[in-house]
Amino acid sequence: MARIESAQDNLFKALNSSVGFDWRLAPYDIAQSVAHARMLAKCDVVSTEECKQLEEGLEQVGNEFEADQFKFDADDEDIHMAIERRLTEIIGAVGGKLHTARSRNDQVVTDLAMYVRGHASAAQEQLVEIMAALMSSVDQFKDIVMPGYTHLQRAQPVYLSHHLLAYFWMFVRDHRRMSVCEESSSKLPLGSGALAGVGWEVDREFLAAELGFAGVSENSMDAVASRDFVLDYLAAAATCATHLSRLGSEIVLWSSQEFGFCEVGDEFASTSSIMPQKKNPDAAELLRAKAPRIVGSLTALHGVLHGLPLTYNKDLQEDKEGLFDAVDTLELSLEAAAEMLRGISFNNESMNTAATDEFMAATDLADLLVKHGVPFREAHGIVGTVVRSALEQKKSLSELRLDELQKISEHFDEEYYEILDAKSCVDSKVSVGGTSSKRVSEQIDLAREALSSFKK
Ligand code: ARG
Repeated sequence: MARIESAQDNLFKALNSSVGFDWRLAPYDIAQSVAHARMLAKCDVVSTEECKQLEEGLEQVGNEFEADQFKFDADDEDIHMAIERRLTEIIGAVGGKLHTARSRNDQVVTDLAMYVRGHASAAQEQLVEIMAALMSSVDQFKDIVMPGYTHLQRAQPVYLSHHLLAYFWMFVRDHRRMSVCEESSSKLPLGSGALAGVGWEVDREFLAAELGFAGVSENSMDAVASRDFVLDYLAAAATCATHLSRLGSEIVLWSSQEFGFCEVGDEFASTSSIMPQKKNPDAAELLRAKAPRIVGSLTALHGVLHGLPLTYNKDLQEDKEGLFDAVDTLELSLEAAAEMLRGISFNNESMNTAATDEFMAATDLADLLVKHGVPFREAHGIVGTVVRSALEQKKSLSELRLDELQKISEHFDEEYYEILDAKSCVDSKVSVGGTSSKRVSEQIDLAREALSSFKK
């Protein structure tokens, strides 16, 4: 280049070059360039004939990418330079007109906004798939009762459908977070130039409409310097992957012999190289482990952006690899999780057996005393004593006789024994959003509504 006399040091080249990863922006860059060429013609900056040449040349470059035949040059610094270089090879010097009224600074962030918007909406489609997969498990295994846990200790019985629907609502919120990210990437940066705007009467509204943006950025400096839409994607992706991680983690636990609650399909499991009896839920384990790398990318980009003076700095090139990795990780995880869920089977018997653990009715026993006028805090202590007494005698709660119970509290009566039944315990949780079958049915209706609203 004219300003710099000596050739780039190879180490600088290695540090500076982004073409090894930003090639992924090629389709966006080409679409952007076609729109830009049309806009230049519309505004009489290039002639109609030149525009035609630019468009045809760009189309050929696009075809080369699609056919995997695009040849990078050792001197291509990034995808934008590579495309312009090739375009000029194809159509000659007129290719050099494409960069009129455009800087790589507004160019790169425009590509990136298009990329993020596309992948936020892809994630939403995948979220709809995983929600649908959860719903079909809910339908299929509706009546299974299982222990609900706190501190991974059996706490209170719940319907499996209630447990699965908990994830459904997390995914609903993940879907909404992706919409936030679509929104924050919806203003077109192109036309901001290097930082100050461009010295041409460009038609940014035309560009926005061509490229599917909702409007144009209000401030050229903000437009080239900001990457918070990438932070929004990474944050939404990190949260979504964290939800998948918790789901994966439960599937790992539930498929252990200790729980025996579920079995993933053979397609999503492997065996051990040495222990032939093993069926390992590797897919679920990996879902469990993927979230932190997305969190890492989010943290890294916060690090890049913090304290960075306006406007464009080469530091901003570091926004890409973490984003691309996050997109790959999230999309693969969502797809695999949905497919794994479709093939999972739940073990009615072992879940129901675990749910008959009478100790989980302890809160309901306290409620019984409360109905007889005992303050809850006191009732809690009384039932604690009952539980300890049963444990000491190595008996279940229903094996305690009424006269023994009444020695602990005169307020116990026959209803004590009815409460210990898991089914009655689960169906007693009648509060809105609770696990009683009536409330779960209502919840299923709400979930169906949510799902069909996303499918519109
Ligand atoms: N490869 C650069 C990036 O990813 C493109 C923008 C370069 N701009 C510049 N003024 N050097 O950020």
